[in-house]
Amino acid sequence: MSGVVVDRKPLKELNTFRVNVFAKYFTEIYSKYELLDVLKNPEYKDLPKLIIGEGSNILFTKNFKGLVVKLSNNFIDEAYIDDKSVTLRVGAGLSWDELVKHCVIKGYGGIENLSDIPGTVGAAPVQNIGAYGAELNDVVSYVEYLDLDDLEVHEISRKKCKFGYRNSIFKNELKGRAVILNVELDLTRGKHDIKLDYGNLRDRLAKIYEGEGKSIDDIKEDEIPLHDIRRAVIEERRSKLPSYSELGNGGSFFKNPVVSVEQYNEMKQKFPNLPGYEVEEGIKIPAGWIIEQCGWKGRKMGNCGVHDKQALVLVNYGFATGLEIKELSDIIMDDVKRKLGIQIEPEINII
Ligand code: EPU
Repeated sequence: MSGVVVDRKPLKELNTFRVNVFAKYFTEIYSKYELLDVLKNPEYKDLPKLIIGEGSNILFTKNFKGLVVKLSNNFIDEAYIDDKSVTLRVGAGLSWDELVKHCVIKGYGGIENLSDIPGTVGAAPVQNIGAYGAELNDVVSYVEYLDLDDLEVHEISRKKCKFGYRNSIFKNELKGRAVILNVELDLTRGKHDIKLDYGNLRDRLAKIYEGEGKSIDDIKEDEIPLHDIRRAVIEERRSKLPSYSELGNGGSFFKNPVVSVEQYNEMKQKFPNLPGYEVEEGIKIPAGWIIEQCGWKGRKMGNCGVHDKQALVLVNYGFATGLEIKELSDIIMDDVKRKLGIQIEPEINII
């Protein structure tokens, strides 16, 4: 039975900013065949379409005057397995963290550092989700998508996805055209590539072990259980990032900007504590640091504001409209540009 289309659907519970907008039409689909049925239906054929997962990277600034499709195809298939590796094919509609949890329980390594990231599996390749030294592109082998232009299904390899920092072909050449249907991941079994070097992660895990009367130094790094890493990541994230169920937000609102080495050195003279990480294109500076430096951390503007533990996150205190939140983000971007000469950009998809 193909997805039932409803009129004037409230989207408040379908976006993590909890912005109160409506979709002219809405449907939820559970397979690519249902999706094709809806898209081929002459009634909706010429309408603008928006495909959503958990709505965790979207800021709606107005009602959507077209068809919103929520993808809920949430299967996990083991396409290949041996002693050292496993290949999973996963439906785009599965909650990303459900997948991480499943993999940690099964002892499949490679995505444990990406624990607790909101959103669905299908949304993950779009912005190449990353956290604590791991990125989705470390494990993706293929992505299958439906092209909205010709309604054909295509499968592309990791290389063709053109992954970059919070970037991919789905945000560029295929923007607005590709509906990701499923994602194939290559994960490890038995021996894993444990990553603990980012930020406080090792300290966080050491503290967890201390509390259990153990020492992290007594455990060989590649023998640290995946669920301990997951636990440390979850504790670390929850110490800084607000929970969607308590406070509407979309995770990092801005991308961390990359400046030239010369610009970085110049700034470092003015701000000796300026953090920065070398990347291919120059030096990446944490936008959270920049925004805090400009005095925005914890500040409120009407019904929205800047989170008090992580300045990269904008929050809805309950009744903010998308436009109010966008306005706050514009003011912050202008202020940062004026004070530090750096242009920061939203990471969130503003609609
Ligand atoms: N910092 C500040 N003030 C702040 C926030 C951060 O000074 O208010 C400084 C911290 O001291 C730290 C540095 O900035 O030295 C980096 O902070 P953090 O480790 O929290 O990481 P981030 O660069 O701010 C990125 C991702 C997050 C991800 C974390 C952890 C982006 C845009 N964001 O944030 O992703 O969880 O790293 O890996 O790259 C998301 O995309 O929604 C998200 C939460």
